[in-house]
Amino acid sequence: MEATFIFFILLAAFSLSILGVFSYEPAPMQDFCVADPTNLVAVRVNGMACKNPMFVQADDFYYSGLHINGDTRNSYGYKVTPVTVYQIPGLNTLGLSMIRIDYAIWGANPPHTHPRATEILTVLEGTLQVGFISSDPQNRLITKVLQRGDVFVFPVGLVHFQRNLGHSNATAIAALSSQNPGVISITNTIFGSNPPIATEILAQAFRVDNKTVNRLRKKTISDNIIKDKSAARKRLESRTSAALSFNGQVKNTGTGRQDAIPKNNALSSKFLSHTFLLSLV
Ligand SMILES: *[C@@H]1O[C@H](CO)[C@@H](O)[C@H](O)[C@H]1NC(C)=O
Ligand SMILES: *[C@@H]1O[C@H](CO)[C@@H](O)[C@H](O)[C@H]1NC(C)=O
Repeated sequence: MEATFIFFILLAAFSLSILGVFSYEPAPMQDFCVADPTNLVAVRVNGMACKNPMFVQADDFYYSGLHINGDTRNSYGYKVTPVTVYQIPGLNTLGLSMIRIDYAIWGANPPHTHPRATEILTVLEGTLQVGFISSDPQNRLITKVLQRGDVFVFPVGLVHFQRNLGHSNATAIAALSSQNPGVISITNTIFGSNPPIATEILAQAFRVDNKTVNRLRKKTISDNIIKDKSAARKRLESRTSAALSFNGQVKNTGTGRQDAIPKNNALSSKFLSHTFLLSLV
């Protein structure tokens, strides 16, 4: 009896030590450490410098705005509204954040990963097809169609996507296990890097010709402008000049602007091509 009890105590201790080993953000060593982004002189261990606790206010733990519909009028037909440590400084060191995602009809959040967070998503409105892909060599696609109220998990680091299959706008809320989950969008990293990855490297990787690589690169860069007009316009300028000086093959990437939501078929084939390319990576 006693031996069994000790066994369970040891098992519990062992499980806790495993949790310690695999936790991605260190356990806080104080009640809170409200981020003070203006403090550039303090030593930062992991995260941001702490504000003096005496000056901490309720608003440091507060955000208002997730009731507002995200504007999905971009070429992918989705919009993420983040609530991370950049919106709520009180999240600093707590290993947690959340997002609201809006999807237009047939809109899709294309394949991407969060390098620092597992994501748990719930559908508030609409019907979403979601999925993630396990790592090499299986590359197994785990996918499901979710309805309102359904919950799905995307394990940390794995490439995943969501797409609105419904005939109305869709909305989801997700929690992420990092104050700053980060996003690596597959198309942006591969075809939108600054400066660009050498054409022949991508042509070899995807086993396509240079022309196809340049076409995808141009498309990625111009899609980014539509996605985030002002910020991306600046990026484009530097990317375009970098691309021009890099191989002289990327011409004017500023063309092809479109503000309207694309036709269902266009979006659908674009989404499939993202998925297709993903399977080639
Ligand atoms: C769907 O989303 C679009 C773009 O954000 C918006 O303009 C439109 O009013 C929404 N439609 C409905 C029925 O809510
Ligand atoms: C592809 O482009 C690279 C330069 O970017 C060039 O060296 C290579 O010969 C090209 N390949 C083909 C098949 O045109």
